[in-house]
Amino acid sequence: MLSSWLQQPVKIREVISDDIFEPAHAEYYDGPPGKPLRLLLQARSDFLSIWRASDYAEKVSQIRILGRQVVLVNSPELIRQVVVKRQENFERKSPQMRRALEYLLGDGLFISDGETWRQRRALVADIVHMNRVPAFGPIMEKTAGELVERWSRMPAGTTLNALHEMAGLTAEIIARSVFGNQLGEDSANAVTDSFTSYQSLIDSINLGYFLGFDEGLPVWRTPSLRRSVKRLHGIIDTVVEDHLAGRGDHNSMVELLIRRQQRNPELKLDVVALRNEAATIFMAGHETTAATLTWAWYLLSRAPQVERQVHAELDRTCGDRAPTIDDVPKLEWCKAVIEETLRLYPPVPILARQNRKADTIGDVDIAPASLILIVPWLLHRTPSLFEAPHEFRPQRFMAGRRPTPYSYIPFASGPRVCPGLHFGLTEAILCLAVIAQRFRVKVPEAHKVEPMCRLTLRPRGGLPITIEPR
Ligand code: HEM
Repeated sequence: MLSSWLQQPVKIREVISDDIFEPAHAEYYDGPPGKPLRLLLQARSDFLSIWRASDYAEKVSQIRILGRQVVLVNSPELIRQVVVKRQENFERKSPQMRRALEYLLGDGLFISDGETWRQRRALVADIVHMNRVPAFGPIMEKTAGELVERWSRMPAGTTLNALHEMAGLTAEIIARSVFGNQLGEDSANAVTDSFTSYQSLIDSINLGYFLGFDEGLPVWRTPSLRRSVKRLHGIIDTVVEDHLAGRGDHNSMVELLIRRQQRNPELKLDVVALRNEAATIFMAGHETTAATLTWAWYLLSRAPQVERQVHAELDRTCGDRAPTIDDVPKLEWCKAVIEETLRLYPPVPILARQNRKADTIGDVDIAPASLILIVPWLLHRTPSLFEAPHEFRPQRFMAGRRPTPYSYIPFASGPRVCPGLHFGLTEAILCLAVIAQRFRVKVPEAHKVEPMCRLTLRPRGGLPITIEPR
């Protein structure tokens, strides 16, 4: 039952022995059930800390928080019901997500629904579609190459923050892909800084929703929030206007959006709509891949046998030349490491929806405008779905083995599945390969990793690493 959510901070543990590596995960609290309001406040600072051992099970359960019904769906068949079979009733994002991001993204795809979502989904999905990913390969190769060149000028044993390094890398890749190569270093840095500061300034829980406002309440636009949004919108508007005036990079995603609008004027994409979609792709495609790569370094560093397999595969496949996008389909170990990383540390650990009409999931009747939670963090670690669920075992994704349908959903599933899935997977595998070919990345033995979640799942305080040339 969800009402068994815990009420005191969770302890994190890590198990390392010769052949087993259980990466950092919650050591569950199984005392008396938590008080709903306290859980809400706890979830606000860290969403991972509220679960108990009994929540890692295939079931549907519910709780009331200040009169609002909250339903946790943690069974593959019922998840399918929510995200596919009755998708129309469950397509809306939760009010907290919509309210938190609307100032930044407007009606951008990530938080839109209804007719706007349907129209824009086709457009954005086409722009980041798997067929287009090879065209962005050179940007990924070049940007990852620049990072290894920069690292190679540092003395062996240099200590870095992996989260910071990976965020810089993926921000650069997505910025060059979305806005084109002419963005310039200062503007690219300003875009990344503004997104980061926006995310740190907004609240992930909308109290108004729990107090009875079905649409939640608008977030308070503080002067610092206004400043980051103004700066960001200003830069993106300039890029869009440059492209509209024919001065943009012809291979950028903004250019593709504009061409689609010119061919299909009924889309009615004005400068603001173009900005909203460009900002959405940037935001959705940046932190998620950075978090994936950061967690992959942590896992590899604690699992030397897997690390050896990755290095051997890279030596076999690429020899001395740098890996390219054409190598990605051949890198079975690198792919399995990324897939297993996404299982243990899904960058989007919670998918939150608001149902339009009354409905029933399993044996739970759901009132309109309730909060429906699908939590990949719990699902991916449910023992009946994954053997030794807390262990790092990339082999479970190799030799044609696949998880039960709807039990593994790091990119969500159904019509709202991540449209950047192929872009993100390819980028993560390629960046891992380019870096692992040249460096051994180590997380200090004594470092205790603590996963935490606000919008995305990341190690609290970043991840210290030392880099050694191979
Ligand atoms: C490893 C990397 C990535 C992960 C794990 C990931 C995961 C997700 C998830 C779980 C969602 C659904 C969220 C929800 O329903 O609440 C989503 C949506 C989305 N993602 Fe990704 N993503 C990744 C990379 C990317 C990239 C690289 C792009 C763009 C190039 C992208 C663009 C989007 C967009 C536009 C949406 C909104 C789709 C919609 O609502 O219809 N993502 N992503």
